[in-house]
Amino acid sequence: MSDAVHAFYGRKTNVSSCFDQATVLVTGNTGFKGSWLSIWLMHLGARVVGLSSNIPTDPSHYVTAGLERRIEQVWGDIRDLKTCRDVMTHHRPDFVFHLAAQPLVRHSYLEPHETFVTNTMGTLNMLEAMRVCRHRCVGVFITSDKCYDNVEQVWGYRENDRLGGRDPYSGSKGAAELVIRSYVASFFNRDSLISVAVGRAGNVIGGGDWAVDRIIPDAIRSWSRGAVLTIRNPKATRPWQHVLEPLSGYLTLASRLTTDPEMIGEAFNFGPAADQNHSVQELLEEMRRHWPGGAWQDVSDPGAVHEAGLLKLCCDKALHQLGWQPLLRFPETVAMTAHWYRSFHEGNRNMWELTRSQIDLYQEQDRQRGRIW
Ligand SMILES: NC(=O)c1ccc[n+]([C@@H]2O[C@H](COP(=O)([O-])OP(=O)(O)OC[C@H]3O[C@@H](n4cnc5c(N)ncnc54)[C@H](O)[C@@H]3O)[C@@H](O)[C@H]2O)c1
Repeated sequence: MSDAVHAFYGRKTNVSSCFDQATVLVTGNTGFKGSWLSIWLMHLGARVVGLSSNIPTDPSHYVTAGLERRIEQVWGDIRDLKTCRDVMTHHRPDFVFHLAAQPLVRHSYLEPHETFVTNTMGTLNMLEAMRVCRHRCVGVFITSDKCYDNVEQVWGYRENDRLGGRDPYSGSKGAAELVIRSYVASFFNRDSLISVAVGRAGNVIGGGDWAVDRIIPDAIRSWSRGAVLTIRNPKATRPWQHVLEPLSGYLTLASRLTTDPEMIGEAFNFGPAADQNHSVQELLEEMRRHWPGGAWQDVSDPGAVHEAGLLKLCCDKALHQLGWQPLLRFPETVAMTAHWYRSFHEGNRNMWELTRSQIDLYQEQDRQRGRIW
């Protein structure tokens, strides 16, 4: 463990000093959220080690931000326990952020076994790799708002609501939560070298996502070539939030785990304010304000595979126990997202600077409302 992190243990300080000079393992670092997290961690002074099996999209944020040159990349599969153990033993990270996953609901219907093995067994492998490593390490495991048994209730899900998940993706994330719970109860107590907690976030948007079957990347792909976007579920409401919002929650949670044993094994929702849940239709209309000419068409199919219609998160626990709350309002979230994609669309191929400037802006605004970065 670095001196800076060692000195940090046992006392409270701000989030950024916690990561300065720390070695941080980010699994899934070539993906959308993992690439933003890696850049933010480097911004905070961390040495980032990435573990991913591939670069999931082309184009990708990982490539356009030049992350290949800036971090230590391990190419490996979290479905392989030895790979996870070797990375932990060789790099001895002070922090692990576990994001690697098969994250797409519709793909999980096509590849249910792959989804469960990656999301549930992959989580098990990372936990086991941490259990047998012989150094102090903090882990934040990223599951999903979809880990809850979705009963389409109008109020937000709380952390102690029943876990479930009807589709294979949601089920695999609910199952991952049970595995984490068992490891915490059995191995990661207060005397352990390992401190682990869980972050659950909702639907994340922001520049640099090119995944298939996600509304913003689908819109950008269509609008960039002047095509009309077709939408299968325009009335579905989702807790849209900018990618920096849950990431600030994960960073806050990790830093608190270094000082506060009460946080061990806790799960936290990181979602938008209760009045910031919007439908797909509203999201697209807001995007169109920044992308003149962007058009969409409703092609709802009543026979399509099941997707949850309503999903809200209650984030009171994160506010009361971590002092975390979302910063951006819906129009700001959409404006930042659209600005990033417009810059890319207009030919900018060095997204490192733009991403860092959005992180700077976010941190500065968060500082102004009293949070310590
Ligand atoms: N994007 C969202 O809206 C959202 C919402 C809630 C939760 N999440 C969760 O956040 C995490 C990151 O999501 P994302 O949107 O950045 O996903 P993404 O598809 O952009 O990236 C997935 C990453 O996981 C890696 N990966 C996949 N299978 C792997 C394997 N077997 N071994 C090693 N690496 C593997 C990929 O290489 C990639 O780096 C996931 O756990 C996802 O379930 C995402």
